[in-house]
Amino acid sequence: MTYSRILGTGSYLPEKILTNADLERMVDTTDEWIFARTGIRERHIAADGQFTSDLALAAAKHALEAANIGAEALDLIIVATTTPDRVFPSTACLLQQKLGNAGAPAFDVQAVCSGFIYAIATADNFIRSGAARTVLVVGAETMSRITDWKDRSNCILWGDGAGAVVLGASDEPGIISTHLHADGSYARMLNVPSGVSERGDDNTIHMEGNTVFKIAVNTLDAIVDETLEANGLQKSDIDWLVPHQANIRILQSTARKLGMEMERVIVTVDKHGNTSAASVPLALDVAVRDGRIKRGETILMEAFGGGFTWGSVLLKY
Ligand code: UT7
Repeated sequence: MTYSRILGTGSYLPEKILTNADLERMVDTTDEWIFARTGIRERHIAADGQFTSDLALAAAKHALEAANIGAEALDLIIVATTTPDRVFPSTACLLQQKLGNAGAPAFDVQAVCSGFIYAIATADNFIRSGAARTVLVVGAETMSRITDWKDRSNCILWGDGAGAVVLGASDEPGIISTHLHADGSYARMLNVPSGVSERGDDNTIHMEGNTVFKIAVNTLDAIVDETLEANGLQKSDIDWLVPHQANIRILQSTARKLGMEMERVIVTVDKHGNTSAASVPLALDVAVRDGRIKRGETILMEAFGGGFTWGSVLLKY
């Protein structure tokens, strides 16, 4: 049996920082309100001329270095993003060219904030089936480009960044199980109401924040149950929760569901806000590099986002 295993992780945050104090000067809000309601202190903003594929490249380079693998060895490149550089080619193809890899299949996955979970599940299936052996999976976003900076209920949340992992084929897990779901009947509750085919003049995020919050909490509780049951595990078997970094109160709720102290939850939302598909690999990389997550430990990653989409990945690091 072939499994996929994480060989290396990497991440990148753009240089420019937008603090809550900066937002106080842009909209009617306060640092106290933002921190109490979301846990966010600051977010990073891509520079003019810096695109999603540039953020992805920086994170990918770090992951390849950590895995001690050259880009030419990759036989699949997947980028999870909801803010691609262009309509086409895919951000994965643009990244592939910047990395200097040619010939491997490369494609984007679009599942908004659950994108990285979807992309890992896709890569895992390629590796398990024998279709690929060494896969780069990146979550990269420039959410600042689709943020309405006049909407105080929304603009305080989002940030730019990228995270990456290199997965390799292995005789032992690795990734134990992946669980994906979507329910498109909620499309309007969290969306950008225009695009390529459906043209419009509003290219910014719209969200019924409070309703999305409640559904996210309940749905993430259910995905925790589903993941544990599918593997015959107890809550206490999970060493680390690496959640989508949307709002500290959602993270705390999932930790409560797992009966887990917050010390076992990787929290980075304070540093970069909600970076959509980039948030899970950003958090994972931070905890791997600072030594909290160690080889052999059991990790639960989960996310919920626009679509709605949601999912989880259970793995042994
Ligand atoms: O990653 C994809 C999934 N997305 C999420 O998980 C996000 C889910 N939603 C959230 O994180 C939260 O709903 C928000 C942080 C967006 C909002 O927090 P909330 O506790 O749900 O606040 P609310 O929307 O119920 O608003 C409470 C009050 C309102 O005032 P009134 O009507 O009570 O007088 C808002 O007008 O807070 C007001 N408010 C603000 N006040 C100061 C809304 N935004 C702000 C603000 N500063 N930035």
